[in-house]
Amino acid sequence: MAYKVPFVNYPTHYHRLKGEIDGAITEVLSRGDLILRQQLRQFEENVASFVGAKYAVGLNSGTDALQLSLVAAGIGPGDEVITVSHTFVATIAVIVHCGAKPILVDVGEDFNLDMDQVERAVTPRTKAIIPVHLNGRLCDMERLMKLAAKHHLIVIEDAAQALGASFGGKKAGNIGLTGCFSFYPAKILGGAGDGGMLTTSDQEIDRKVRLLRDHGQDRATGDILYYGFNSRLDNLHAAILDVKLKRLPQWIQRRRELAAIYQRGLAGVEYLKLPPPPVEQDRYYDVYTNYVVRAKGRDKLVAYLKEKCSIEVLVSWPVPNHHQKALGLTHFKLPETERVSREVVSLPLHTELSDQQVEYVIESLHLFGG
Ligand SMILES: Cc1ncc(COP(=O)(O)O)c(C=O)c1O
Repeated sequence: MAYKVPFVNYPTHYHRLKGEIDGAITEVLSRGDLILRQQLRQFEENVASFVGAKYAVGLNSGTDALQLSLVAAGIGPGDEVITVSHTFVATIAVIVHCGAKPILVDVGEDFNLDMDQVERAVTPRTKAIIPVHLNGRLCDMERLMKLAAKHHLIVIEDAAQALGASFGGKKAGNIGLTGCFSFYPAKILGGAGDGGMLTTSDQEIDRKVRLLRDHGQDRATGDILYYGFNSRLDNLHAAILDVKLKRLPQWIQRRRELAAIYQRGLAGVEYLKLPPPPVEQDRYYDVYTNYVVRAKGRDKLVAYLKEKCSIEVLVSWPVPNHHQKALGLTHFKLPETERVSREVVSLPLHTELSDQQVEYVIESLHLFGG
C-alpha cells in the first residue's frame, strides 16, 4: 500500500542524486575496483574528517562496528558491559557474542542512558559501557566520560543513529574509544544495502580492526594475525555513500527544520510529549534521525494514522529487549524503558518530506480523538 506520507522514500531520494550515483557505480564497475580500493579509502578519510576522529574503518554494518570494537578492546568472558535495553537488539547481541555479560540500565527523559543508574550498575567486573545516542541525540558524554575515567572503563559509542550530532561541540564517534555508525538504508546516511563504519583516534585499535575485518590477515605479508571476520564495506557501497556524504550537512539542516515545524505545530497537543526542540540547547546538537513522540493511547493512534490518514509511522520497540524471552534478560526491571515502549511512536521525518506533508501529519494529530 502506498502511503500519503511514507516513513521513508528511497526511490525519490535516489532520483534526486541519480546522475552522480550512477556515475559513481559505473566508474567502480568499469575499473573493477570492488574490494578495499580507492573509493573505500576516500570515503573512510571523509567520514573520519567529518566526525573529527583520526581514523575510520569501513565495515559490513553498524552491528559489526560494535562487535569489532568489543573484540579489539579485548572484552570477553567474565566481563560486564553496561548498556540500555531501549535500543536496537544488536547493541546487546554483540556483548553476548563476545562471551561478556550485558548489564542493562534504564533511560531518562530523552530516551538515552540514565547516568545515575550507570553509576549504580558498575561492579568490579565492569569493563565497558556502550552509550546509545538514540534518535540523533547524544548521551550526556561529559558525565559519562568522567564516570568511565573514574572506574577505568572503556566507552564504545553506539552512534548508529547519530552521524553528525554533537555534544559540547564534539561529534558522536569522536568521544569514546570508538564510534559505531550504520549506513542501513533508513539511517541519516543510508546506503544501497547494509554498511557500517568504526571511528577512532586510537592507532592500535584502528590497526587491529583493519585486520579483523579482513580475516585477521596482513595482505602485505600473508601472515594471519588474529581469528578475524569478513566485514569489509564494499567499494561500490563506499562510492555511493561518498556521493551522499557531501549532502549530509544540508540534509541535517533540513531535518532540523522539519523537527521545528513539528515542534511548533504540535505544541499544546495534550496527549503528546515531544522530544527536545531543535534549538541550540546548551550542549546538544541533535540531528533528528528519528522524530519520536510519546503518546497516551499510542496503539490506537498508530492505527488511526496508518488506516484513516494514510501516514506511515514506526514503533521502536513495542516489546523492550529485556522482555524478549529468548534473550534471557527478563531479570532486569526497567520501569521507564517499559513505559517508553508503551508510548513511543516515530513520525515521518526524512529529507524527501515536504512542509505540506508535515503540516498534514500535524493536522491529523490534532484531529485524533483517542
Ligand atoms: C541503535 C542502533 N544500534 C545498532 C544498529 C545496527 O546497525 P546495522 O543495522 O547497520 O547493523 C542500529 C541500526 O539498525 C541501531 O539503530
